[in-house]
Amino acid sequence: MLKRPDTGIFLTFEGIDGSGKSTQARALAAALQAGGRDTVLTREPGGSTGAEAIRALLVEGAADRWSPETEILLFNAARRDHLEKTVLPALARGAVVISDRFADSTRVYQGAARASLRPLVDQLHDLVIGMEPDLTFVIDMDAKIALSRGLARNSGEDRFEDMGATFQQTLRAGFLELARMSPERVQVVDGARDMAAISADVLAATRAFMDARA
Ligand code: ADP
Ligand code: TYD
Repeated sequence: MLKRPDTGIFLTFEGIDGSGKSTQARALAAALQAGGRDTVLTREPGGSTGAEAIRALLVEGAADRWSPETEILLFNAARRDHLEKTVLPALARGAVVISDRFADSTRVYQGAARASLRPLVDQLHDLVIGMEPDLTFVIDMDAKIALSRGLARNSGEDRFEDMGATFQQTLRAGFLELARMSPERVQVVDGARDMAAISADVLAATRAFMDARA
């Protein structure tokens, strides 16, 4: 089992594709760095050399490229490498780690979208990951607007976006349900506002969390 250091703070951003997670993760990292905090901005799938190689297998290609079970294994393989190589060493030296997506994405994309697979998602998480972020922001917004933002980027990494608006609506409901189940860890942020208003809320909540910890 992985040992999470007692030091450092682990924050994650979650939400549907195009909701503005990456924008907000970057803004928070910049604000904390400007305040002199050792801050690591990372992402999933990816965030380490091995996990970035696995990312390419996951986000490119046809939607039916992997069976659902194989896909869950690949996300967990990437996450384990990311934790071993990037997240845990940074926490050990006392850094704030901000990850654009983490295990909640697997619960929602692989678990909630295909309900029968949630037990497999949870069992694998317990076996090979076994840790949660300290605080998670779900950037919540209308699925159709988020989808049009995401596809407009034309990144070539649209395997999940290509699954369509109904799928994104199911995902949105899945993230909101996770927040309802874990209110002590997961905060929902209204993502349908201008970027600066969202960033201000996220920074205030992060500072409140850090002050409570200090
Ligand atoms: P995600 O990481 O959730 O997929 P991004 O942060 O990459 O989302 O944002 C998707 C697109 O929407 C980008 O082009 C970004 O500039 C734009 N965007 C992000 N936040 C906002 C916002 N609050 N209002 C309008 N556009 C936004
Ligand atoms: P990401 O690069 O965050 O996409 P976006 O910026 O469009 O939100 O993530 C790539 C895709 O991988 C995204 O569609 C969500 C999906 N994903 C899962 O299905 N399960 C997971 O565990 C993770 C981390 C991501």
